[in-house]
Amino acid sequence: MGRILVCAGTGCVASHSRQVTARLKAALHAHHLEERFQVDNTGCHGFCEQGPLVIIEPEGILYCRVREEDVEAIVTEHLEQGRLVERLLYQDPVTKEKIAAYNQIKFYRQQSRHVLKNCGHINPENIDAYLAVEGYQGLKKALALPREEVINIIKESGLRGRGGAGFPTGLKWEYTFKAPGDRKYVVCNADEGDPGAFMDRSVLEGDPHAVLEGMLIAAYAIGAREGYIYVRAEYPLAVQRLRIALAQARERGFCGERILGTDFSCELYIREGAGAFVCGEETALLASIQGERGMPRPRPPFPARQGLWGQPTNINNVETYANVPLILRRGAGWYASLGTEKSKGTKIFALTGKVKNTGLVEVPMGITLREIIFNIGGGILEDRGFKAVQIGGPSGGCLPAEHLDLPVDYDSLTAAGAMMGSGGLVVMDDSTCMVEVARFFLNFTQAESCGKCTPCREGIQQMLAILTRITRGQGREGDLEQLERLARVIKGTALCGLGQTAPNPVLSTLRYFRAEYEAHIRDHRCPAKSCRELLTYHIDPDKCNGCTRCRRRCPAGAISGEAREPHTIDLELCARCGTCLDLCRQKAIYVE
Ligand SMILES: Cc1cc2nc3c(=O)[nH]c(=O)nc-3n(C[C@H](O)[C@H](O)[C@H](O)COP(=O)(O)O)c2cc1C
Ligand code: SF4
Ligand code: SF4
Ligand code: SF4
Ligand code: FES
Repeated sequence: MGRILVCAGTGCVASHSRQVTARLKAALHAHHLEERFQVDNTGCHGFCEQGPLVIIEPEGILYCRVREEDVEAIVTEHLEQGRLVERLLYQDPVTKEKIAAYNQIKFYRQQSRHVLKNCGHINPENIDAYLAVEGYQGLKKALALPREEVINIIKESGLRGRGGAGFPTGLKWEYTFKAPGDRKYVVCNADEGDPGAFMDRSVLEGDPHAVLEGMLIAAYAIGAREGYIYVRAEYPLAVQRLRIALAQARERGFCGERILGTDFSCELYIREGAGAFVCGEETALLASIQGERGMPRPRPPFPARQGLWGQPTNINNVETYANVPLILRRGAGWYASLGTEKSKGTKIFALTGKVKNTGLVEVPMGITLREIIFNIGGGILEDRGFKAVQIGGPSGGCLPAEHLDLPVDYDSLTAAGAMMGSGGLVVMDDSTCMVEVARFFLNFTQAESCGKCTPCREGIQQMLAILTRITRGQGREGDLEQLERLARVIKGTALCGLGQTAPNPVLSTLRYFRAEYEAHIRDHRCPAKSCRELLTYHIDPDKCNGCTRCRRRCPAGAISGEAREPHTIDLELCARCGTCLDLCRQKAIYVE
């Protein structure tokens, strides 16, 4: 029987994939094809920009941006007559070639999808679909081993936490296992607060059982009988799928009392967070689960010794847990063979910004930034010049072209002034102002600071004020040194990771793009022509035909000139709104 997979991840649902599913079911019925084809919903394929996606299996033909009106053509042309519906096929942005098979598309061909393997291919609301792809085999295997042996397997695999800091997972489990206490907890950090990041959401929506299985293996290994998944309430579909998965896992004996007939019992619960970025920090998250205000506290004691309600608690990220069943099933040796010496396995990135293919990509550790951006991502939009890539979320760093061949692993990124973070990767082209980029990210961390400690609360605000002045052309001599001083103090004295890493975008842009800061301060010029208040608008008299369009529409009355004569702009009056630039058909207006 053929399968028609319709993506039901958040991105595709937002572009009406549910209606496509309904229409497909109705069309199969009307064409008497229900015996030959089955419609199934899946989680996100990571290619949301092309959604709603429909895949016809077993051939693996991918149709993109499918609307309800397209369903009839898919049924009559493809299913009945065996002809591809050309107009719905994916078009390679570089070669312009139409590509039919999902696994031939460069975006997918160059990835190593292990954690994301099931996402987009199984129905996440059906436990049998997960069981059919060896689901819960990792748990079965773990339960047959002594706890220490399970911990050793994770240690040998080299798995490091995917939530940001890259702490060795096996070691963390061992600390919790060895910590004194009868009551222990496992916690899954599904807060995912980085703007633009949706790796964890996609895993939860597309393969929720993998995360539950990883948590249950961890619970067994450390000796926990209870666990919590802390997921942001802004992820309603992820919450819904987790609830369904949890109910099914309980029903089938994978969760709850005497799991799989052994004497291991563990209950998992879901807690919804209100979406504060700081609640992703582990001690704030634990406070929030306990019903307290989500504020970080000093560490030590680390959660492995004193976590939830003062008891030893293992906290890992969604992607970290999703790796665990794979390691148990395929072995630590297999896992350790992927990646680099110190960064094993794969990493999922949310590739966004000025790149041709945006979406979720899973790549082996050690791949270069160039391979991700130019091979998988297809290069820069409109074939403009590459300027920088911001990696590691709001506290990450901006790396310039000279680092395109940097291997993507924890240590190389940190040495270059960026960090792995949870997997945000924002590509910037030559029209991006790096001072503005630094200001943008600092604006985010400043707004999200919980205010508990002075260096972060006051210091970030000071840095933001300086950056804002610079982007408005009011920078002063000494500003850059002052920014560096403040950054050093905040990094060294802030209580939690939010403050300690918030200056990173400023420091990395100062390190690689200092001349751009200097141009703003000394010449009152934005080299990228992006900072509005530093731009001047001019009319080229040789190109202007005096059509008067700009003069009639200028909101500041800054343009003068007689009809059919070249016009001029009064820079004193110009409000730099850009209206005239967009209006002029002669391209007579230019910006300096
Ligand atoms: C401000 C801040 C926000 C964080 N947000 C997240 C998050 O959304 N998800 C996450 O897994 N870890 C986040 N972390 C890291 C966690 O504190 C913690 O290190 C992580 O959950 C541990 O899991 P891992 O070892 O599997 O990476 C954040 C840290 C800070 C300082
Ligand atoms: S560093 Fe910032 S977010 Fe962290 S505790 Fe201090 S004020 Fe709160
Ligand atoms: S719109 Fe362009 S061509 Fe027309 S008057 Fe203005 S500058 Fe000249
Ligand atoms: S940028 Fe705006 S304010 Fe300035 S001249 Fe053009 S239309 Fe007028
Ligand atoms: S939601 Fe459909 S591809 Fe991401």
